[in-house]
Order: sequence, then structure tokens, then C-alpha cells
Amino acid sequence: MAVLVTGGAGFIGSHTCVELLNAGYEVVVVDNLYNASEESLRRVEEITGKKLTFYEADILDRERLTEIFQKETIDSVIHFAGYKAVGESVQKPLEYYYNNVTGTLVLTDVMRKNGCKSIVFSSSATVYGDPEVIPITEDCKVGGVTNPYGRTKFMIEEILRDLYVSDPEWNIILLRYFNPIGAHESGRIGEDPKGIPNNLMPYVSQVAIGKLKCLGVFGDDYDTPDGTGVRDYIHVVDLADGHVKALNKIAEMKKNGADEVKIYNLGTGNGVSVLQLVHAFEKVLGRELPYEIKPRRAGDIATCYADPSKAKRELHWEAKRGIDEMCRDSWNWQSKNPEGYSK
Ligand SMILES: NC(=O)c1ccc[n+]([C@@H]2O[C@H](COP(=O)([O-])OP(=O)(O)OC[C@H]3O[C@@H](n4cnc5c(N)ncnc54)[C@H](O)[C@@H]3O)[C@@H](O)[C@H]2O)c1
Repeated sequence: MAVLVTGGAGFIGSHTCVELLNAGYEVVVVDNLYNASEESLRRVEEITGKKLTFYEADILDRERLTEIFQKETIDSVIHFAGYKAVGESVQKPLEYYYNNVTGTLVLTDVMRKNGCKSIVFSSSATVYGDPEVIPITEDCKVGGVTNPYGRTKFMIEEILRDLYVSDPEWNIILLRYFNPIGAHESGRIGEDPKGIPNNLMPYVSQVAIGKLKCLGVFGDDYDTPDGTGVRDYIHVVDLADGHVKALNKIAEMKKNGADEVKIYNLGTGNGVSVLQLVHAFEKVLGRELPYEIKPRRAGDIATCYADPSKAKRELHWEAKRGIDEMCRDSWNWQSKNPEGYSK
């Protein structure tokens, strides 16, 4: 029995493949390499000393997916595949809705036609919009999302909930990630953004390596201790481990029957400001990083961090790595692979 990992060649997907192989799972990856390189999967095999099966395929390609489901014995799916750039989604809403939402519709339809009704979905803390209460629990209101990317996550959550209501044989877990950063401690796999990074950590590390000149910090007048935005950064290896724990939960749900769609926040529960992150990175680097305060960015919120206690209680999972390890491992990856996976 294998786990199908859609988007498995990407940042979070590749780290999850490592943890799945280490935990003894058989892994089948489907990725169209839109935002990834097959080299990441070669390195996953190198790190673990184990083999996985890779299909370069699009989740929108119904025939191809059907063939894969007929060839492999897929027990459950971890669904990472999707577009993820918030700013780009404002410019390209149709592409985002089509790839993320329609992609999930095709995937789940092919799954049910092939008797596979277990899925772990990559959702995001962005579904909470501007949260009314901090730390954020899974019961907080969702839906006040400010961009098309976030709305695809919210819509897919709703679709999966409707699917469960229509057929309670489905076992569905929605994982709401906070801000994944860091890299595998080997420095062999990590985040490899194409073009100018959208997220803080890859931007910081590209300034550190000299590819970018200066970091822009968007807003220093938020209602936070140092005025810069506060987020819940989580080490990608901890996040990957959360998926292994979610699959354990799926196994339990299969045995006892699922009574609902399960939702878990995956975060550390610690809020870290932009400047705190920059200073932690400078400590690893041993020198200062140039940064410039810029106006606030539309749609950004002041503070967002998780209450991760439900995941601790029910998945027996908790983040183990702190901000210093996240910075150390991000820099280790960036400095050993200045051009990412391309030689
Ligand atoms: N990185 C974050 O900050 C973050 C936060 C919350 C949620 N997420 C979600 O987690 C998931 C993984 O994120 P990531 O950071 O690893 O991104 P990523 O871009 O590195 O990985 C996504 C992968 O999906 C593949 N893909 C995209 N569309 C596809 C399609 N139609 N068919 C097949 N493959 C396709 C890409 O090639 C890529 O390898 C995404 O769904 C993302 O929205 C990410």
C-alpha cells in the first residue's frame, strides 16, 4: 500500500517524502514540475537510502491520474499540488482557481472512482483572514480571506467538507499550516523559489548570499512589540512530521470510522516578528543584513500565530525546532546551494 503525494517534488512535499520513507511508507509522487525540479526527489532518495516512484504528471490530467491509480495500489493521498503565490494570484485568479480548485476536483473524483477515499489536504492559516482571537484555534471563524490564493484554500476546504457529508466513508484531514521555513538538516533539500521570492525567509537568505541587495520590511507601525508583523514560523521538517502523524490518524479513522472532517493547525504557537527573524538569521550568519522599512503591504495582517494544542492532543504531534534551528538550516541549504537545484 502506497501513499500518493501530489506536489511531492516541491518544498514541503520533498521534506514530507523524506519523513514518509523514513517511517516505512511506500511513496508515489505526482508532480508536473511547474515549481519544482526532479533533482529534489533524487536527493530525497539519497538522504533516505530508499526509492520512491515518480510520475511527471498534472493533477488536471484525468486520464493520466486514472492510469496511475490503476497501476499503483494507493491507500491514501497527501495533496500538496497547487499554486501558492499570494500576489500572483491577484493577477491570475482564473489560473489559480483552475489549478487549485479544479485540480482538487479531478483528483478526488479519480480517487473515489478507484476506491481511495483518504486524503490529507494542505490548507493554510490564511483561511482565518484577519483573526479575531490570537492564538488561533481551529474553531476560529474562517473565510474572511483577502486574495484568490487564500480563497482557493477556503473553497477546497468547503468542497472536502461537502464531500464528507455526501459520503462519510471519506477520511479527510485539513492541515492548516502557519509559516514553513528551514530545510532538511543535511542541506540537500530546501526551498528553491523561481524568480524573486515572495516569502520572507527565502528573501532573507538570498540577501545573505548576495543575490539580492536589500531586504524590504513592509511596515514597522503595526500593533506588535517592535512594530513589524508577527508570524508563527515552523520548521519544514516538523511540518513534514505532522503529515506522518496525520496518516496515523487516517489509519485510526479508517478503523473506527470518521465522525467528521478533522482540522488541525500546524504551527509552533510562538509569534516571531520580522525583525526578530532577521536578527536570528544575522546571529547564524555572524554579520548584519541590510534592510529597509517600506510601507505596509495591502492585505497583510499584524499578528498571526497558532494554538497548536489540538494537534498535540489528537495527532500526538508538536513542533520541536525553534527559530535558531530554522535560520541555521535555511542558511545551510542556501549557502550549499546558491542556485537552488539548478547546477
Ligand atoms: N509554503 C508555504 O508557506 C505554505 C503555507 C501554507 C500552505 N501551503 C500549501 O502547501 C502546499 C505545498 O507548498 P510548497 O511551499 O511546498 O509549494 P511548492 O510550489 O514548492 O510545491 C507545490 C508543488 O505542486 C506542483 N504542482 C502545482 N500544480 C500542479 C498540478 N496541477 N499538477 C501536479 N503538480 C502541480 C509544483 O510543481 C510543486 O512541486 C501548497 O498547496 C501550498 O499552497 C504552503
